Amino acid sequence: MLEVKNIHCAYDQVSVIHGISLHVNEGEIVAILGANGAGKSTLMRAVAGLMHPTAGTITFDGCDITKMSASKSIKLGLSYVPEGRRLFSKLTVRENLELGAFSVTDKSVVAERLDEMYELFPILKSRSGQTAETMSGGEQQMCAIARGLMSRPKLIMLDELSLGLQPSLVERVLEAVAEIRKRGVTVLLVEQMVQEALEIADRGYVLQTGRVVHKGTSQELLDSDEVRRAYMGM
Ligand SMILES: Nc1ncnc2c1ncn2[C@@H]1O[C@H](COP(=O)(O)OP(=O)(O)O)[C@@H](O)[C@H]1O
Ligand SMILES: [Mg+2]
Repeated sequence: MLEVKNIHCAYDQVSVIHGISLHVNEGEIVAILGANGAGKSTLMRAVAGLMHPTAGTITFDGCDITKMSASKSIKLGLSYVPEGRRLFSKLTVRENLELGAFSVTDKSVVAERLDEMYELFPILKSRSGQTAETMSGGEQQMCAIARGLMSRPKLIMLDELSLGLQPSLVERVLEAVAEIRKRGVTVLLVEQMVQEALEIADRGYVLQTGRVVHKGTSQELLDSDEVRRAYMGM
């Protein structure tokens, strides 16, 4: 479904991704792992069309999206939930969700998708009239994921869902991700919480300073002494 081939990315001439290749098959959950500054978010932004690689190619669902804008790639079925949630804090949960379906003009379709999200995340239904800023971190994260799903993506990219959440909430949010996949959405997940992410993912790639340094099935990565020592503190 997604194929990233040897991409390089830079900010103001400073190269931060040095030839990353990876792929995501339809129906998979793939985890991108690595420490702060490894280039995970930059990779996500490049795939989402928020920046363009200086070299290499990205194909999604058979289309070359290397130079495609973010608004076009959303229409192709690619959704990106950035790091730090970025909800509109003064808008209600419902309004935030509706914005995720901004390209849908038919109100009944939007209402149908809202109902789907309330079913997937019942907490959002009971909070639907509340402003985003009044919700807990975990609830906000659920809202951000649901907003990302409102465009009915084929592939959703989730950047550091666990950031700032207490461990019990991290688990709940990741369970929701596993549920999303069951409903037919392919997932590319960025995480620093390596163990937790690999528990729900099929495969993973470990990035270090802009390169892939390990890749494999989740089990292979969990069994790797090197990965365990470097990223799980074992
Ligand atoms: N907007 C930016 N401008 C300049 N450099 C950036 C910007 N965003 C990230 N970087 C740099 O790019 C590298 C990778 O960052 P990032 O992709 O955010 O890593 P990660 O998400 O893995 O923490 C880091 O060295 C970071 O300082
Ligand atoms: Mg990041």
